Parts: sequence; structure tokens; C-alpha cells
Amino acid sequence: MKSITSLLVILLITFTFAFAQNKIVVNADLGKETINRHIYGHFSEHLGRCIYEGYWVGEDSEIPNTQGIRNDVVDALKELGIPNLRWPGGCFADEYHWKEGIGPRNERPTMINTHWGGVTEDNSFGTHEFLELCNQLDCEPVICGNLGSGSVREMSQWVEYLNSDNVSPMTELRKLNGRDEPWNVKYWGLGNENWGCGGNMTAEYYTNEMRRYSTYTKNYGRNRLYKIAGGPNSSDYHWMETLMKHGNPGRSFQGVSLHYYTVCNNWRNKGSATQFNEEEYFTTIKKTLFMDELLEKHIRIMDKYDPRNRVGLIVDEWGNWHDVEPGTNPGFLYQQNTLRDAMVASLNLDLFNKYARRVKMANIAQTVNVLQAMILTKDDQIVKTPSFYVFKMYKVHHDATLLPANVISEEYTNGDESVPALSASASKDAKGKIHITITNVNPSEEVLVFCDIRGVEKINFDKGSIITGKQINSYNDFGKEEEVTLNEFSDAKTKGNTIEVKIPAKSIVMLELNEGS
Ligand code: AHR
Repeated sequence: MKSITSLLVILLITFTFAFAQNKIVVNADLGKETINRHIYGHFSEHLGRCIYEGYWVGEDSEIPNTQGIRNDVVDALKELGIPNLRWPGGCFADEYHWKEGIGPRNERPTMINTHWGGVTEDNSFGTHEFLELCNQLDCEPVICGNLGSGSVREMSQWVEYLNSDNVSPMTELRKLNGRDEPWNVKYWGLGNENWGCGGNMTAEYYTNEMRRYSTYTKNYGRNRLYKIAGGPNSSDYHWMETLMKHGNPGRSFQGVSLHYYTVCNNWRNKGSATQFNEEEYFTTIKKTLFMDELLEKHIRIMDKYDPRNRVGLIVDEWGNWHDVEPGTNPGFLYQQNTLRDAMVASLNLDLFNKYARRVKMANIAQTVNVLQAMILTKDDQIVKTPSFYVFKMYKVHHDATLLPANVISEEYTNGDESVPALSASASKDAKGKIHITITNVNPSEEVLVFCDIRGVEKINFDKGSIITGKQINSYNDFGKEEEVTLNEFSDAKTKGNTIEVKIPAKSIVMLELNEGS
């Protein structure tokens, strides 16, 4: 009798698992791609309060700083292990003249930041300050050169200034400004959004210009530049096709950029960062998932012209773009950041992981005080946003081996439209630990998920963490206890090589697993 009962229980478990509506099958023995840690990169432009106030307060500030860069922001970003930082723009890059940002600060000329609020840029944060910031963050600089309003000579000399160790005019100038050793900057952008603010060029014209600029951005010493061509706006597949067909991929450029922002309503009325209804929430999620189609189609074109996979797809601007906070300068793009933004971050990161074969870098816009930021600052205070905690949670995937995962998910429905409730990433790190991050975008229903870890006999659940909040528009604010943060999560049961886990409504969960015996 006892054995019949056990048999029935086993059959029931097997049946439930086999036909479960929500299932994640992780192929632990089929991993071959590395999730490049540069997918978890960042972008900071001379825009609003990102550079000035966000990082740079100057050496005489009462805000604790090291060489003018605020310590609290650097400490917080170090928690994320940020792998790279893209600078100086954005649109600003194509009107930036680097020689105005070197030498004694009180002698640097000023300029008007025409794209962002028409404010006066005093150039007190320039090349040396940016590279000191990267040094403090222990991250790789990604510098975007000016192809829109600069000259080939200007770009060529900037690279020489940064990387040359020869006896040369630019090396001497650098030494005069206090830096003996070359910085050996590797990642180099050949313009930004050259279909728009970077010169309003056609794909054909840009492709020719890019080849010319690339010719004169030279390698110095043993440093090899990784040049990133200005790529398409969203679904401009013609741009990608032209660049890949005529741009000399792999030689003139090693990476091609792609920009896609999630805009809830439309560009004129994007919608509030914090005051939104469920329909707007749903729209934001749906529009975020469009990234899947974009990556798939752009990669298909890249595969056609670069079957050896030498050129990386670099998503160097992405994230939520909301209306600015009421009462703030419309040109400063300052927006709050809620649990909805956290969801947008995890969904995008899952997609970049999924296409890790081709996606070699991504940079969320824009780190501090601008768009989907990690950190907001007010005088000497800082706030860590819900998006910050997603980047902290996903650190486990940096440079880990992508484990192919099939996600079978119930739908989250709003009106007559639906999206999958679940999204996930799985990877195995250098120590052999398996990490699965799972997002449930349904704002009101928990989801019971069965995970099948194929290729291992037994799996142990070591620990977990969760990001959630009371409401989908919960956020963190100055002087208040955090509403959205990273907490411990333990609600997972294992049996053999399977795990049963309940993912609460509107949450992101990380499971750390160990292969058992
Ligand atoms: O991130 C803000 C702006 O968005 C960037 O300057 C530009 O490249 C894009 O249009």
C-alpha cells in the first residue's frame, strides 16, 4: 500500500512538472557563449546634472570628493562592479572639441551645450577628469569621438594624446598637462547617432565618412582600438545593411552601435515616471520586449556579412525615457525611477544575455541624474534607484557562461493584449555556481515556476535574493526609507535536478544553485 502511495506521489510530481504551465528548462551542459561583462556597462553625458553635480563637484566642494569626484557616487557604482563608462555623449559628443577640456581649468574656454538646455559648459570636466573617474571606478573608458562637427585630424590627435608613448606633439602636450603614461584607451566610438544629432547623414554618407575617420584613428604601442561605428536608430535595418555591406566590418570597425529607448506613450508625451496606470505599465513592458525583435533582425543582417562573428553589436544607449520631473529643466532629462524601471532593466538585460554571441557591450542611459539612472543626487545626498538594484543582482552574470534556457510562461494580459509573464537568464560562473534570474512582470499574480536543470543529477539551492515593492510605481526618495531594494529570498524547493519556486507578483528573483551529489 505504502509503495503504491509513493508511486502515485512520484507520478503526480512528474506529471505536474511535465505539464507545468510555467517552466524554465536550463541546459547546464550546453553553455558555450560568455556573457560579456561589458553588457552591464553605463553611459554618462554632459547633460543636465549627470557630469556636473552627479560626479564632478570640484576639489573645493564640501561634498566629500577625491580629485573633485564625489566619493559617495563612486562607492555606490563600485557596488555594481561597473565594467565600462561611455562618455562624453550622446549628442554632446558630436559637438565636443576635446582640446577645450584639457590644461589648467581656469584657462579652458566655455561653450554652449546646444542639445541639453543651452547651458554654458565650462569644460572643467574633460579628458583627464574622465579618465580619473574611470580609474576610481576601476572600469574601462568608452570614448565617443566627434565625427559630426569635428575633423579627422582632431579625432586622430585625441587618440594620439590618449594612447601614444612615442615622442610626438600630442604625447608632449599630455605630459605637459601632468600625465606621463598613455592611458591605452581601447573602446572608441566613431560618432554618435549620425543619422540624427550627429550630422543628419544618410547611411551611405556616414559609411564613407566612418571609413575615412577610422583610417586615421591609429593603434599605438600594443594597444588595439576596438572601434564602434555609429549604428542604426532602432529598426533602421537599411542603416545596418549599408554599414555591414560597405563599411569594411572587422577592419574599419569592430563593433556597431544600436540605440533603442522605451517610450511609454509617444515622444511628445512620454508619460510620467511615477504616476502611471496599469495600461501604461503594460505598454512599457510590451515596448521593452520589442528589443527582442530588434536584436534578432539586426543580428541576422550582421550574420549575413560577418558569418565569423567578428563584429560586436553594441547597444550603447537603452532604457526608459519618461517625461521630466515636474518643475525641472526639460533639457536636463531628470526622471524618477520605480519598480517598473527595474522590470525594464531586467527584461533588457535578459535579452542582451540571450544574444550574448553577438551583443558584446551595452550601456544604459545615463548612470546619474539623467534618464534611467542608477543614482540620483540632491546636494550631498544620494538615492540608489530600483534599477541600481537590478544591476547589483545581475552581477552574477558578468563574464559567466550563458546557459541556454527555454522559458515556458503563462501570459500577463491587459485588455486584449498579452505578454509572457516571465523572463529569465541562466549562467554558470567560474566557480561552477549556477545563477538563474527570473522576472515576473505580472503586477498582481504570483507565478509558480518549475525549473529543470538539465545535465546535472542534483541541484542544491544555496541562496537567493529578490527585488520587489508594494506597488509597481514604488520608488526610493531622498530622506526616506528605501521602498525598493535587494532582500534575501529563500522560497525555493529542490528535488533531484528540479526546483519549484514561487515568483511573487512584480518581482525579480535570483537563485544561486550548486551542483550536488
Ligand atoms: O541619452 C540622451 C540622448 O539620446 C543622447 O544624447 C542621444 O544619443 C540620444 O538621442
